[in-house]
Amino acid sequence: MCGIVGYIGNKKASGILLNGLAALEYRGYDSAGIAVLNDRIEVIKVKGKVADLVSACLSTKAALNGTIGIGHTRWATHGKPSKENAHPHSNDEFAIVHNGIIENFKEIDDFLFQHGYKKISATDTETILLLIDYFSKTLSTFEALKKAVSLLKGSFAIALIRANEERIYAAKKESPLLIGIKEDELFLASDVSAFLEHTKQFIPLEENDVAILEKNGTFHIYNNDMKVERPKKSVNWNLQTAKKGGFKHFMLKEISEEDEALANTIYAYVKNDDIDLDVDESLLKNTKRIIIVACGTSYYAGLTSKYFFEELLSIPTNVEIASEFRYAKPIVYEDDNTLFVAISQSGETADTKESLNLARKLGIKTISIVNVQESTIARLSDFVIYTLAGPEISVASTKAFVCQLAVLYMLALKIAKLKGIDVKNYVKELTAIPSILKQEFNRINSEIEQIAKKYFNVKNFMYLGRGISYPLSLEGALKLKEISYIHAEGYPAGELKHGPIALIDENTPTFVIAPNQEPFYSKTISNANEVKARNGKIILLSDKYFSIADDFIQSPTVSYYFSAFVNILPLQLFAYHIANILGNDVDQPRNLAKSVTVE
Ligand code: F6R
Repeated sequence: MCGIVGYIGNKKASGILLNGLAALEYRGYDSAGIAVLNDRIEVIKVKGKVADLVSACLSTKAALNGTIGIGHTRWATHGKPSKENAHPHSNDEFAIVHNGIIENFKEIDDFLFQHGYKKISATDTETILLLIDYFSKTLSTFEALKKAVSLLKGSFAIALIRANEERIYAAKKESPLLIGIKEDELFLASDVSAFLEHTKQFIPLEENDVAILEKNGTFHIYNNDMKVERPKKSVNWNLQTAKKGGFKHFMLKEISEEDEALANTIYAYVKNDDIDLDVDESLLKNTKRIIIVACGTSYYAGLTSKYFFEELLSIPTNVEIASEFRYAKPIVYEDDNTLFVAISQSGETADTKESLNLARKLGIKTISIVNVQESTIARLSDFVIYTLAGPEISVASTKAFVCQLAVLYMLALKIAKLKGIDVKNYVKELTAIPSILKQEFNRINSEIEQIAKKYFNVKNFMYLGRGISYPLSLEGALKLKEISYIHAEGYPAGELKHGPIALIDENTPTFVIAPNQEPFYSKTISNANEVKARNGKIILLSDKYFSIADDFIQSPTVSYYFSAFVNILPLQLFAYHIANILGNDVDQPRNLAKSVTVE
């Protein structure tokens, strides 16, 4: 989704901004631009990619020598992708970039119109620019910014520059904004990746903070008119993990890193057979009910873990889609001892964040499982358990999924242990998974590429599984549709004959996930037979062969609850290879964004 970068220092800003925007490309976007403070503000923007913006900057007649500037990648919300709607928005005086959504922009537009202002773009961001301009007629830039943001409803992270002022102004509400710090240089960004090549030190702005960044590394943060100090943080990611490292796409690189990401995550918490989660133990011990909330792939990780939670703990575990939960009326009793778990790779997903806020309002204790340090969801939760997946750049989430699942399993194991259940064997099984995944990637990657070559031109795909393999069928279908644009449905295998079997014919193959665990295996194979009887092709993913398979992917034998960790890998690789064969933009699929910060 949209990305912000800003720079103020002693180097040419344009190159730093363009590199910062390139590092934010993974978030998904449709246009990009920069504004650099020279004698006046120079704005260059394009519909398209950062590479197009670089060409536009190289061919501009304007001298981009300034050492102060702001940049943006835009993912269209208000107004279609176009040069006019791209940020920065500017007039002779100001340039602004903005992430988020201004809900009351129409009312403000009416007000501005009455005062002689006219918009050029269809965006809500230009509304902010004009409102600041309006107030700046009587107020200083800082006061005008404060006055303008006090009237905005919705979410925003804003960076603003003004002609003849050697400063960057910033404001934040419900959308992340970080100040990167490097001696006498400062960066402003919506995400650490934008300045990771320069510094790992940063300060996340907090709700309703307004900041001024000046030359020589000086900055001031205010909240409610009071000057405030915010703690400095340091990110432990390195630049190398955020680069492609010889792989054609980040997605394949990230799938190949699953073993390492998983080992890092597991060994951060498993210590000598015990699990150390930094969560209040009495809270965990007394838990009687668990609500897990997330979106997309994170939701499927939650759904997969439900089977393990309920088997191990015998406590009800509800897994909810965040965009539904946030508007639901959850029933909570005082003695319920409900534990709320939010899962989010980015830690910024708007619906998950609002679900978390709802849980907090209801007085439920919250834990978040998050990959990005110091992200909003992490900071809002009572407790955070980080996945140590490292930066996930590809829009399609892969290594985050296995790490989320591992954390969910460790949470279940910790609660079980506190309740006096012997979990030694489960811990042993979990710690064995990373090395299995490492071998599996090397063993099956090219085999799956060959299978993908047989199926890349179909229009529809069915994915079936039972029990713990059902959420995997949903995740397999999601991966395929998001990057290959092939329509895919994930279904519980037993539901097939209640409707979707009507879709099956010789052109609609079915991916069947069937670990060798009864009664699931035999029942799933029966459903696969029903597909076969209707001329449907079968790709069988299992540790036990059955002659029905047109293509068979042999999975390693692990116990039932751990089969999800090993079976997700072929599903991800299959989607990847299909999309790659089709020549799609695998890492930045159309219409999608990495971090979904709007509803
Ligand atoms: C799919 C995918 C999305 C995300 C979803 C939640 O590959 O990446 O479905 O899983 O948008 O994102 P996070 O986990 O950042 O909250």
